[in-house]
Amino acid sequence: MDQYRAANRAKWDELVQPHLTSGFYSVDALRDGTRRLDPIVERELGDVSGLSILHLQCHFGLDTLTLARRGARVTGLDFSPEAITVARGLAAETGLDATFVEGDLYAAPELIEGAFDLVFTTWGTICWLPDLAGWARIASGFLKPGGALYYADCHPMAYVWDEGEGACTPATGHLKAKYPYFHDTAPTVLDDPDDYGSDHKTENTLTYEWAHPVGEIVTTVARAGLVFEFLHEHTEIAWALLPSLVQQESGLHSWPAGTDPVLPLSLSFKAVKPT
Ligand SMILES: C[S@@+](CC[C@H](N)C(=O)[O-])C[C@H]1O[C@@H](n2cnc3c(N)ncnc32)[C@H](O)[C@@H]1O
Repeated sequence: MDQYRAANRAKWDELVQPHLTSGFYSVDALRDGTRRLDPIVERELGDVSGLSILHLQCHFGLDTLTLARRGARVTGLDFSPEAITVARGLAAETGLDATFVEGDLYAAPELIEGAFDLVFTTWGTICWLPDLAGWARIASGFLKPGGALYYADCHPMAYVWDEGEGACTPATGHLKAKYPYFHDTAPTVLDDPDDYGSDHKTENTLTYEWAHPVGEIVTTVARAGLVFEFLHEHTEIAWALLPSLVQQESGLHSWPAGTDPVLPLSLSFKAVKPT
């Protein structure tokens, strides 16, 4: 494993326990059977009962197990051993049937057999991956003919904004670009103890991320042989990406009222493997 993945994995390992008890991740709702996916995915995904699903970068399996509760046969993959241990524990505790595989995204073809109706990957995914064409080929390779890749994540344009207090309010003219929009093989180095999902301050603060612009996402998915059914841009996102965002009743986070112009915060698509 290279230094980038080792550092990223150390941070992700450390975040699993804080996430287990944080309000952001609704573990109790999974336990009592009321947990839902976020509203964007709920709106777009449709019925999954009876489908075989591969959930890439599944973290500690909350969405994986939520899909299993809806009658899908689900396999979750993540490179964090801590996350996979907790995911298996939650599956045993809830009696939900899902398979969890520990491994790097790029090793998935050696670790997982078979083809799936749906490859599912959402919220905080490709920013951790240096090679997007490789990712798209792997996702496509796991699909049966007629199967689909479903993706929802931060809009590449929304990743560029300075998240410092007061630096990200378009209504007051303070939206300031800080991070790259276009891809560079050299990662963006972040040194940050903060966590989007809890108050925990991490000991592992260094992470390495890669920007992937919209054109690269669309082109790599198309070149991997998938045909777009839709690509949606949203003015809401599943987590508080910027301090000026306001949580809506739906639970999603959006720009404050009166923001003008309104810019995209997330992007989702479904792309199908031709029969
Ligand atoms: C923001 S979380 C995804 C959260 C997920 N949407 C969920 O259902 O909770 C990102 C995940 O990507 C995983 N990850 C990052 N780089 C990876 C890689 N190279 N291979 C596999 N998993 C990776 C991390 O361990 C982490 O669990």
